[in-house]
Amino acid sequence: QPALKAEEYRPRYHFTPPKNWINDPNGTIYANGEYHLFYQHNPFGNEWGHMSWGHATSKDLIRWQHLPLAIPEFTSADGKSQTAIFSGSTVVDKNNQSGLCPVGTKDCMVAIYTGNVSAGGKQTAQYQNLAYSADKGRTWTEYAHNPVLDLHTKEFRDPNVFWYAPGRKWLMAVIKPTDHQAAFYESVNLKDWKLLSLFGPMGDTTRVWECPALFEVPVEGSSAKKWVLTVSSGHRQKNYLAMQYFVGDFDGKTFTPQRQNEILYVDEGKDFYAGIPFNDRPTNRRKPIMIGWLNDWEYANKIPTTPFKGAMSVPRELSLQNTPQGYRLVQTPISLAAFRKKVTTITNMTVDKPTPLGYAGESYELEATITVGSAKKVGIRLLKSGAEESVLTYDTATQTLSFDRTHSGNVTFSDRFPSIESVRVAPQNGRLKLHLLVDKSIIEIFANDGQRVMTDLVFPTKHEGNIELFSDGGAAVFDALTVWEVK
Ligand code: FRU
Repeated sequence: QPALKAEEYRPRYHFTPPKNWINDPNGTIYANGEYHLFYQHNPFGNEWGHMSWGHATSKDLIRWQHLPLAIPEFTSADGKSQTAIFSGSTVVDKNNQSGLCPVGTKDCMVAIYTGNVSAGGKQTAQYQNLAYSADKGRTWTEYAHNPVLDLHTKEFRDPNVFWYAPGRKWLMAVIKPTDHQAAFYESVNLKDWKLLSLFGPMGDTTRVWECPALFEVPVEGSSAKKWVLTVSSGHRQKNYLAMQYFVGDFDGKTFTPQRQNEILYVDEGKDFYAGIPFNDRPTNRRKPIMIGWLNDWEYANKIPTTPFKGAMSVPRELSLQNTPQGYRLVQTPISLAAFRKKVTTITNMTVDKPTPLGYAGESYELEATITVGSAKKVGIRLLKSGAEESVLTYDTATQTLSFDRTHSGNVTFSDRFPSIESVRVAPQNGRLKLHLLVDKSIIEIFANDGQRVMTDLVFPTKHEGNIELFSDGGAAVFDALTVWEVK
């Protein structure tokens, strides 16, 4: 493999840190006209370690302004232990009801995160801590009486806190990873927490559970909402990490899931994990917005990017569809209309052989509607240059959409990396709809208006590549296809 050049895989319209390692999004919130993204960050190196909270803000969820490290790892007063700042959330405590901020603070921003304690290089405890900021998240102070929630175990993490208006209280979803359980707590002051209920084990328990979130999601075509619980864990069929979700009701105390005859995964690719919604979104946004970390712990530390490692998804709007099988999550990336320029459009094109589009790019958005017709297989080769390609194929007999990155470029850095993902997607009126976000080393695939999603990393050594349409065993018609370059 050629030597890795600095910056060569840095995406254009996905969040990455200026340098060094990142993992989970943390503390995502909309406050005072800006979106905040905090994130798991190693300030000292390009691999996991010294977990601290990095920080960025945005007005539009695409262009981010990098801010100084928000909450650094710290050493105990006696110098004997280190506390890493693991995943968590932030809330705005209006009028400083908690009394955490200085008297008179209007909007007290409070971070609720997991303190991961280690001594002599050995992890000894995980509990929930608070830090607060009286200046819109720019500078933070540790609460003097941490921890606020401690079960005296080594595995208890990722508190996700939000304001539960019907009960006029704060609610926390937090995880007991090795028990495969989410725990729900309540508080009126963010300092004293009372257990409400436990959820699980249920669904996929092939890996530890991490990073829970509980939030209301609108049901399409009605004014109803349902509660969704997301958990980052494993994917039973694929034996990789993945996020799963449950849909149900929440009465302020207990989450009751709908009957579910299959395990529901948020994203069927390998590289979407630890996603959480933004708290307190703008009032004109009805749907919750989720952002996730694009990587997989199976090879996360080995991906070939420098001087940074790790990226976030384009934020996704979430809604629910009420289907005969039950409620299903629908995900739509937020609009890139303000950041893109149309480069190619075709309509009504019959494809019965490899058909290059004549556009070579590496950061673009693509939407296509395909009548599968008599084709056995129809698809799109992305980032194609010589033998290098990332291939999206729809198999009409099995109604599966698959993504093959085995020839996508550099795949040798981990034997867990080269792979083919697939997911069932039923055509709608004989048609398949695809919405792709391609951004150098990231491919986010939304099928049939976000009913199915697959997100995968790729590391093409040729970078710019062609887009080629193809079909096998019969003709398909590309009713419409548009490509926009994203700036
Ligand atoms: C998930 C996770 C969290 C933890 C954090 C540590 O990716 O393992 O459970 O808080 O990363 O960096």
